[in-house]
Parts: sequence; structure tokens; C-alpha cells
Amino acid sequence: MDDYAISPGPAVTLWVDGRAIEARLGQTVGTALLAQGVRVLRHTRNQGKPRGLFCAVGICYDCVLTVNGKPGMRACMTYVEPGMNVSLPRKPDGDRVP
Ligand code: FES
Repeated sequence: MDDYAISPGPAVTLWVDGRAIEARLGQTVGTALLAQGVRVLRHTRNQGKPRGLFCAVGICYDCVLTVNGKPGMRACMTYVEPGMNVSLPRKPDGDRVP
């Protein structure tokens, strides 16, 4: 391995709507969810259109969700922690996003 290799951090477990998923320390919540196939992180207020990681640097706020009971957290700026609880948004019609 050369000096510039990037290696994943230790595996940790997150809870996403009560379901355990594996992530790596050093990942953001957004990338951990994306690795699990979760692309929709919120819906627009008026038209209910899906939004997910867009800028991935904390500018657009398209990735806000609830982390450890705290709403409005940006998934792209929040690093995973062991045992973290993440709540995915509900669609405007009340259905839970898969
Ligand atoms: S993806 Fe733009 S703020 Fe998170």
C-alpha cells in the first residue's frame, strides 16, 4: 500500500428508521445512505418532489433529514457515529420513503 492510499474506517452500525445498516467511520450520513441505495433524503415542501445529495458540500440543503432526533441536519455534512439514529423523511402524502 502506498502512502496515498485511502482505506475505509472501522465498520459501525447506524439505525435508519429502526433498520440497522453498516457504515464506516469517516463517511457522512449521506454517503452511508447512498451506499445502501437510499437516494431520496427529503421532498420539496410545495410540490413534493424528491431531493437527495446534490452539492455534497453543505450549500444546497437538499439533503436535510433528522439525526438523533434533531431535524434539519445536512446528511452531507454529518459524519456517522456508532449507534446513530437517522429518520428518513415522509412524502407529503405521509408515506415513508423506502
Ligand atoms: S447535498 Fe447540498 S447541502 Fe447536503
